This record gives sequence, structure tokens and C-alpha cells, in this order.
Amino acid sequence: MASDLSTAAIRAEAPRAKAGGGAAAVPCHVALIMDGNGRWAKARGLPRVAGHHAGAKAVRRCIEAAIDSGIEWLTLYAFSSENWRRPAAEVTDLTTLLRQYLRSELKELGENGVRFRVIGERGRFSPELRAEFDRAERHTADNRRLNLTIALSYGGRTDILAAARDVARAAKAGEIDPETLDEDGFCRFLSTSAMPDPDLLIRTSGEQRLSNFLLWECAYAELVFLDVLWPDFCAQDLTVALAEFGRRERRYGANVD
Ligand code: FPP
Repeated sequence: MASDLSTAAIRAEAPRAKAGGGAAAVPCHVALIMDGNGRWAKARGLPRVAGHHAGAKAVRRCIEAAIDSGIEWLTLYAFSSENWRRPAAEVTDLTTLLRQYLRSELKELGENGVRFRVIGERGRFSPELRAEFDRAERHTADNRRLNLTIALSYGGRTDILAAARDVARAAKAGEIDPETLDEDGFCRFLSTSAMPDPDLLIRTSGEQRLSNFLLWECAYAELVFLDVLWPDFCAQDLTVALAEFGRRERRYGANVD
């Protein structure tokens, strides 16, 4: 279903982060692939679940650092569509951790002006967890300081495909004209229609891949890969990524002499 909110309107409102202007340039929207929990645990002889628990603490540090830096939108890749293929015990550990996280952090997120959203195939989660997502979204709906989106059972290709199906249905019903549909019209059908495109995508753990994250939305994002494992992520790492972003020249394909 397309959102009521016009993507074009959101884009027009969102300050376009220019970068290239020194370390002070702050991206409006940072997307983050939190990678390395398993390796962090393995290096300590701990079970993978210990890495995910330490990763949840890093999420808290990251949110605090994002607020302190003036970032308005933060989108975290916490569980991909492909992660369902992990051993059942690890999937249970991750979903249990998510529920605990929402229960323990919701009050503080609300008090800190954080608006919480979930994108992804939420129907694949248990009714109890879905109820927690709904509760967290309702509880924080009026907050404006930081828009925090957690991508859960999310895959960029699945999201684009779902949008294409909805577009086809809308065209069949005579609600849209395929001949005049443009990019802004199309992205209203994506699950990310309520957010501006990411200016900066950070991936931790040294891996340099998008892993099916926000494929449409990151068309012009600056990519920064950090050598830190996610559970070790701290405010200083965000500062390093923002400084790198500040050094980038963003041209959006235009030839600027
Ligand atoms: C990738 O590391 C991380 C994940 C698949 C899970 C991310 C989850 C968290 C950071 C904690 C819970 C999240 C929230 C929002 C409370 P990996 O397990 O693939 O690590 P590896 O590549 O070293 O094996």
C-alpha cells in the first residue's frame, strides 16, 4: 500500500546534506549495517548470542551519538530477509532480544524524542512481537528529534518487488497511469516512503557490501566502511564516519566544475 505521505514532499522538506564542506556537514539520514556480532563473540570464545547482546548495547550508544550529532533519521539493519536461514536457535535469540530491547528501551526512547518505526515483512514475526512493534510506534508517534527505523525481515529487492506489484494493481484499477509514473510516484509505494533517502550508509566489520539493504534508496548515498565490529561501535566511530562524509564531494551525477 502506498503511504499517504508524499515522498516528494518529504524530500523537499529534508535538508539535502551536501558534504564536501568539511567535518561540520551532518547527513540528514544515516543508514547503518550493523555487522560483526558473530566475529566479536567468536574472538572471545562466547556464543553468538553474546555478540548480539553486546550489539544491542552498541545500538543504544549509536542512538545517543546520532542524537548528539544532530542526525535526524537513523535506519538500522537488524534482521534481513535472508537472516531467517540462520539456525532456528539464533533466530529465536535475535527475536527474543528484540522484544527485550523494545520493552526495556521504549520509555527512554520516548523521553529522548525518538520516533520509532519498523520496516520489513513484519507479518513474519510472532503476533506478540508485532504487538510490541505497534506499541512502540504508537508510543513514539509524536516525537521529532530522531526518526529511528529498524529494518526487520527486510530485503531491498523484496521491497521493490512489493512496490512493483502494488503499482501494477493500482494501474489495473485505473488509479495511476503507468505512462506518467515517475521516480517520486514509484517510491511512494516503497516501505521507506515516509523517509528521505540516506545520505550516508555505514557498514561495520570491514565487509564492503550492501547486502540487499535500501537498494533503491541508497542510489546516491555515500558509503563508509569501518573496520570496527558492531559490538565495539562507539560515538568516536560515528564521528570518524561523519568526518569522512564531510570530505566527500556529492554531485548527484551532475558535472560541477
Ligand atoms: C550481523 O552480525 C548482525 C545481525 C544479523 C543482527 C543485528 C542485531 C543486533 C545488533 C542486536 C539487536 C538489535 C536491536 C535493534 C536491538 P553477524 O551475526 O552477521 O556477525 P558476523 O558477520 O561476525 O557473523
